[in-house]
Amino acid sequence: MESILVTGGCGFIGSHFVRLLCAEEKFRVINLDKLTYAGNLENLSDLAGGFRFVRGDIADRDLVDRVLKEERPWAIVNFAAESHVDRSILDASLFLQTNIGGLHVLLEAIRAVPVKRFLHVSTDEVYGDREGRDAAAEESALRPGSPYAASKASADLLCLAYRRTYDLPIIITRSSNNYGPFQFPEKLIPLCIRNAVAGLKLPVYADGRQSRDWLHVEDNCRAILAALNKARPGSLYNIGAGGEWKNLDVVRAVCRAVAAQTGQHLEQVESNIEFVADRPGHDRRYALKTENIRRELGWYPRTGFESGLEQTVRWYLSHPDWVARVTSGEYQQYYDAVYARQWGKPS
Ligand code: NAD
Ligand code: DAU
Repeated sequence: MESILVTGGCGFIGSHFVRLLCAEEKFRVINLDKLTYAGNLENLSDLAGGFRFVRGDIADRDLVDRVLKEERPWAIVNFAAESHVDRSILDASLFLQTNIGGLHVLLEAIRAVPVKRFLHVSTDEVYGDREGRDAAAEESALRPGSPYAASKASADLLCLAYRRTYDLPIIITRSSNNYGPFQFPEKLIPLCIRNAVAGLKLPVYADGRQSRDWLHVEDNCRAILAALNKARPGSLYNIGAGGEWKNLDVVRAVCRAVAAQTGQHLEQVESNIEFVADRPGHDRRYALKTENIRRELGWYPRTGFESGLEQTVRWYLSHPDWVARVTSGEYQQYYDAVYARQWGKPS
């Protein structure tokens, strides 16, 4: 049986991908994860240990070498990253260490112990703000607008350079905003679900008219698996659902789903919407051209945003213990740092 090394498999998207791979029953899965605040083994508790778990840092060269020599995986899929834009504004250090430094370690390691595929998971944020521009195609210029996006764009450039220089079998996917179960409640949708249920404020940055293309996490994972199985080494695919939703409309849709599923009055839930100061450097619009993955790999998204959102709200309502556990610890300190809108370095 071929094996696949997944990094960051205890996070939001990575845990769905590990679940998808385990369901395929074609691969042995090794999950290398540092278990940062965003990583949680409980996200995979339904798999009852059907994979090998290694706790560690992708920036630890000795550890990565050891795992590669022991397992000789067919492929690596790299999800491991610091993923939240607001945290990168508070302090970018870890973003550079993991998203660039860690990726560099992985690239060097596969020069020594070759794999057949190295799929690097990137983001539409590398193209920067598309306000007043066309949707981004794979060959569009990179114009990252946040420290997070700059770290992801740097990683993409490093992948492309290693592909050209060392002929490594690299594939890159760049997806739009994901949503679904197990997303850490610092991101817009799970944060608003949690706050709406608890009767807390729903913070909308600036005028709430920024737009994102929301993609269900399981659709993204099927796209990544299709790219892993079918894409030529050296290829790069955008992945998006093709819809554009203004943030305020997303928050209102969350309010509707929460009100419908909890029996609260919609006006009461919506009255907690609060316009707060903007995120510095906030990109107003992300939009992707996704013809290539649809035509060449036959992938298309299956989940419409409103039904996916209802299903997501249902999941959060039925997992209050998970929400409580992941928001204990440093969450409140983070929340206060961001929502005080001071953007200083955290103490
Ligand atoms: P997440 O923050 O939920 O999870 C990240 C995971 O990586 C966690 O399990 C964490 O413990 C692990 N990790 C962090 N640093 C590590 C390190 N140094 N070594 C090993 N493991 C480490 O992130 P996510 O939302 O699931 O995103 C996964 C990937 O997809 C990231 O690369 C992100 O940039 C990319 N992406 C995310 C989205 C989105 O909407 N969430 C969209 C496009 C691309
Ligand atoms: O586009 C892909 C990216 O999507 C990924 O690369 C990132 O890892 C992921 O975090 C996400 O980034 P965003 O910054 O777009 O996601 P977030 O959920 O943080 O914010 C979505 C939009 O909502 C954005 O315009 C900012 C706004 N927002 C966010 C929060 C947390 C608010 O208005 N209020 C909030 O409290």
